[in-house]
Amino acid sequence: MASDERFSLELNEQFAERRLGAVRNPVVEGPVSDWATDFSHVEPEWANDMYEIQAGLRTRCPIARTERFGGAWLPLRYDDIAAIAHDTERFTSRTVVMGNFRPPLDAAPMGVTPPISSDPPFHHPARKLLLPPFTKSEILKLEPATRAYCHELIDAFDGRDTVDAAVEYAQHIPMRVIGDMLGFPPEDADEFRVFVENALEGINLPPEQRIANMGQLYEYLVAQVHDHIENPRDDLTSYLLNCELEGEKLNAFHVTGTMALLLIAGIDTTWSAIGASLWHLAKTPKDLERIVTDRSLLPTATEEFLRAYAPVTMARLVRDDMEWNGVDMKAEDWILLSFPAANRDPDQFERADEVVIDREVNRHAAFGLGIHRCLGSHLARMELRVALEVWLERIPAFSLADPAAVVWSKGQVRGPRTIPMRIG
Ligand code: HEM
Repeated sequence: MASDERFSLELNEQFAERRLGAVRNPVVEGPVSDWATDFSHVEPEWANDMYEIQAGLRTRCPIARTERFGGAWLPLRYDDIAAIAHDTERFTSRTVVMGNFRPPLDAAPMGVTPPISSDPPFHHPARKLLLPPFTKSEILKLEPATRAYCHELIDAFDGRDTVDAAVEYAQHIPMRVIGDMLGFPPEDADEFRVFVENALEGINLPPEQRIANMGQLYEYLVAQVHDHIENPRDDLTSYLLNCELEGEKLNAFHVTGTMALLLIAGIDTTWSAIGASLWHLAKTPKDLERIVTDRSLLPTATEEFLRAYAPVTMARLVRDDMEWNGVDMKAEDWILLSFPAANRDPDQFERADEVVIDREVNRHAAFGLGIHRCLGSHLARMELRVALEVWLERIPAFSLADPAAVVWSKGQVRGPRTIPMRIG
């Protein structure tokens, strides 16, 4: 049996231990008293319409506050969000998912899911080793299989006149693509969805429950690692097992942390972007008609959907006590870094709250800003483009079957999780 001393059977306990030193705060749930002083991104109002909340806050205070999650700030202006994203000295990425506990200080500079959780100087080499499999030319090789899979999903609608565009279409595309890239069995896709929900939507669970959920993900990843050690193949998992940083193979935390990142970042984000784009077209007949009659609008339209419905909000932790733009920040305060809010700042974009499908200048921040800018953006754009092309080719006429039944995810990655759609 092939072995690799980096991956012992006790590894899973060590993963839990790495989180046990964390500061924990009591779970605070329930209605928000005032969004400027008590915001929460896990309450239903936020999931239903965070744009309205953020637009209201922008006129009242440029940086909102909450005591929930052990204390957090929410900047609303593009310039503030960009400044924080670029300032890795004063704001750390030790974890980018805001919740009730923070990983121990010694998790830095790698963090638990490198490179997104890594600060300089560790970040640069950790990111660099991931670049080759995500270049535009490597990603284009995946296009034919992605297209064929989209057709397969629509074939399975089997002539019905109502389908769920999120459950039956959007979610499957990124799960299949990143699962294949990592070399995970396609039949495990249902488990991936649970991992993603636990990581991003279950953040207000009691810490013990959250640690147990993370433990399940790592158990799965370690099993995949062992399978790849015994049967190496041409995929991202074997690639990571063989990668070297400064002449050394990556340690077990690095390998599995990056696998976790790719799985989570690869699924929820693109699933949300595909779903939100189809939802917009279903509820906006004039945009649907324009795109169906003039497919050359698709590139500007997809960038506009990414801007207007940017799915990803990230987090940072304040490194030391400081005064920042008139606000008294304390070490270990969270910053909720809302790229969606940046994308709708009227000082940055004309008609910021409108969806303008032929918008020409569109330097949006959906993929982030600064050193952590999305490494999977070519993959995300390919999946989004192919998913929309195939849907529009096969189903040029569609509308929301029940607008009130659309359900949006909670937390930092926002997208529709169910979209009953009338087709044909
Ligand atoms: C529409 C889909 C996507 C959106 C909107 C998106 C958005 C983002 C954002 C905003 C960041 C910056 C994080 C930060 O500043 O802390 C990021 C980073 C990252 N994304 Fe994506 N992402 C998408 C799809 C993907 C996909 C498909 C993958 C690949 C599996 C991926 C992999 C990554 C990685 C590895 C990073 C960390 C880069 C670094 O820290 O240097 N993303 N993404």
